[in-house]
Amino acid sequence: ALRASFALKAHKGAQVVQTPFQPQASYKVAVLGAAGGIGQPLALLIKMSPLVSDLHLYDIANVKGVAADLSHCNTPSQVLDFTGASELANSLKGVDVVVIPAGVPRKPGMTRDDLFNINAGIVKNLVEAVADNCPEAFIHIISNPVNSTVPIAAEVLKKKGVYNPKKLFGVTTLDVVRANTFVAQKKNLKLIDVDVPVVGGHAGITILPLLSKTKPSVSLTDEEVEKLTVRIQNGGTEVVEAKAGAGSATLSMAYAAARFVESSLRALDGDGDVYECCYVESDLTELPFFASRVKLGRKGVEALIPSDLQGLTEYEQKALEALKPELKASIEKGIAFANKQA
Ligand code: NAD
Ligand code: LMR
Repeated sequence: ALRASFALKAHKGAQVVQTPFQPQASYKVAVLGAAGGIGQPLALLIKMSPLVSDLHLYDIANVKGVAADLSHCNTPSQVLDFTGASELANSLKGVDVVVIPAGVPRKPGMTRDDLFNINAGIVKNLVEAVADNCPEAFIHIISNPVNSTVPIAAEVLKKKGVYNPKKLFGVTTLDVVRANTFVAQKKNLKLIDVDVPVVGGHAGITILPLLSKTKPSVSLTDEEVEKLTVRIQNGGTEVVEAKAGAGSATLSMAYAAARFVESSLRALDGDGDVYECCYVESDLTELPFFASRVKLGRKGVEALIPSDLQGLTEYEQKALEALKPELKASIEKGIAFANKQA
C-alpha cells in the first residue's frame, strides 16, 4: 500500500505517467523532533505522500534549514517550520496526525529504559501541547522507552480531559519491518510478500514476533525460531552497536514510521482495509497496554485482532508469559512519572 500510494512519477519523455492511485492531498501532519536523525528522513518520506497537504516540522533547533530544503521537492504538501517552545502550539493547530520522534537515542551499552530520565519529560511536555492544540489528532509516539512513554502520554491526555485510547499509538512498525526482512532473508522469500505480526512491547524480550503466524506460512526449525526471535528482539541493539556511539536506527525507523503515517492517513481517508501492529491501550491481555495487530479506521483503532494471540506455539506462549512482568513494570513506571509531576 505504501508503495502504491507514494506520489512517485515516472517521466517518459515529455509525458508524465502517474501511478493509478491518486488520492486527494488534504491531511496535515506534524513531526515533533523533525531536525533529528529520524525526523529528517521521516519528513522527506512524508513529503512524498500524496495524502498530505501540510507538513509541519517542529524542533528546538535547526529545523529552518530542513524545512527550506524539503520545501523545494515538487510534491503536493506545503512545508512549514516551527522552532522552540514559543512556536509549538502553532505547529499543532489543525493537525490530523502528530508524530513524535523527539528525544535522545541510545549509545552502546544502554537499554531503552536508560533514556527514561530525559525522554519522559520531553514526551510529557509535547503531549501536553498536543492535548491543548489538536486533541483529536492521531498521536504516534516513537521516543523511547516506548513501553513507558505511551502510558505517560495517556496520563497527560487524561489529566487534560482529552484522552482517546483509540488515537494514541506507540510506533512498533520497525519490529515488524525487521521481522519481515529477517524471515524473508532466512527463507529466500520475496521480501514484499512476508508479514510477521509482532506483539508485546518495544524493548528486549517484550518484543515478541509470532513467527508461527507468518504469512505466507513458513516452516522453521526450533533453532531457526530461537535465532530469528533473538535477532528481531536485538535489532535495535545491532544498529546501536554498528553506529558505535553515533545513535540508533534512524533510516529504517523513518521508513517504518512513514509506513505507519501512511496507513493512518489511508484509514482517515476511508480505506477499510488497513491493519498495522502498534502499542495501544488493550484488553487482549491483563496488561493495560499491549502491541498487537489492530484494524485502523477513521476514528483510530477500530478493532484489536485477538486471533494472533490464539493457538500460539509453546515457545511463543512461554515468551508471552515471560515478557509480562517487564512490560507491566515499564507501564507502571510511566504512569507513576506522569502522576508524580502533576
Ligand atoms: P536524534 O538525537 O538524532 O534526534 C532527536 C531530535 O529531537 C533532535 O533534533 C532534538 O533537537 C529533538 N528534541 C529534543 N528535545 C526536544 C523537544 N523538547 N522538543 C522537540 N524536539 C526535541 O535522535 P533520533 O535518532 O532521531 O531518535 C529519537 C528517539 O527515537 C530516541 O528516543 C530513540 O530511542 C527513538 N527511537 C525509537 C524507535 C522505535 O522503534 N520506536 C526506533 C528508533 C529510535
Ligand atoms: C530500535 O528498535 O531501533 C529503537 O528502539 C532504537 C533503539 O534504541 O534500539
